[in-house]
Amino acid sequence: MGRSSPAGGRRLGPAGHAPYHPGLVIVRAAEEADWPAIYPFFSAIVAAGQTYTYPDGLSSAEAGPLWMETPPGLTVVAVDGDTIVGSAKMGPNRPGRGSHVATASFMVDPGHQGRGVGAALGRYVIEWARAAGYRSIQFNAVVETNTAAVRLWKSLGFEILATVPEAFDHSDHGLVGLHVMYRRL
Ligand SMILES: CC(C)(COP(=O)(O)OP(=O)(O)OC[C@H]1O[C@@H](n2cnc3c(N)ncnc32)[C@H](O)[C@@H]1OP(=O)(O)O)[C@@H](O)C(=O)NCCC(=O)NCCS
Repeated sequence: MGRSSPAGGRRLGPAGHAPYHPGLVIVRAAEEADWPAIYPFFSAIVAAGQTYTYPDGLSSAEAGPLWMETPPGLTVVAVDGDTIVGSAKMGPNRPGRGSHVATASFMVDPGHQGRGVGAALGRYVIEWARAAGYRSIQFNAVVETNTAAVRLWKSLGFEILATVPEAFDHSDHGLVGLHVMYRRL
């Protein structure tokens, strides 16, 4: 648990809110009681069909265990006052002899995107993985048309190692590539 780094949002979000003031977004460990507030934006993001390979139409009970990590992994929420505005999950990318490489997933409520929440969660994950002794972080499946995510991860020090062609069936663009993105710690 801990405070995030300054969020640093500089644009108006899609909902027209003012950018977050740096330091306003708190990132903390998620509790079971947080899941009902995460599930609506989890399902909206999955249903949009543009960023994640989770199956369509997962119920809250089906999706909860897929997002809420158990040790050695961790799920966190980004909180603005009493409102959960985003979430991330992190942990080893592979078990056993691959477990020194971390991975993570991120979802920011569409009504709160573009205001620095994703950046705050990304910085939290890097600090968590470094503190936990991981050597690097690998994102396995960043949709190549997801310009917001690709730009954000590059700004946090990740590079594209490779792109698996036509690996994602995008709701607008059809078959597009999935980037493997990576940074050392
Ligand atoms: C990707 C996601 C996590 C980013 O979170 P966010 O809170 O919207 O992003 P931030 O406001 O922190 O933006 C940080 C950076 O991301 C990039 N970014 C964010 N929104 C963007 C947009 N609409 N277009 C281009 N770049 C964008 C920019 O580099 C931005 O930095 P800047 O403010 O200096 O320009 C969020 O949009 C999201 O949850 N999307 C749906 C799910 C998803 O794609 N998850 C990641 C899968 S790899």
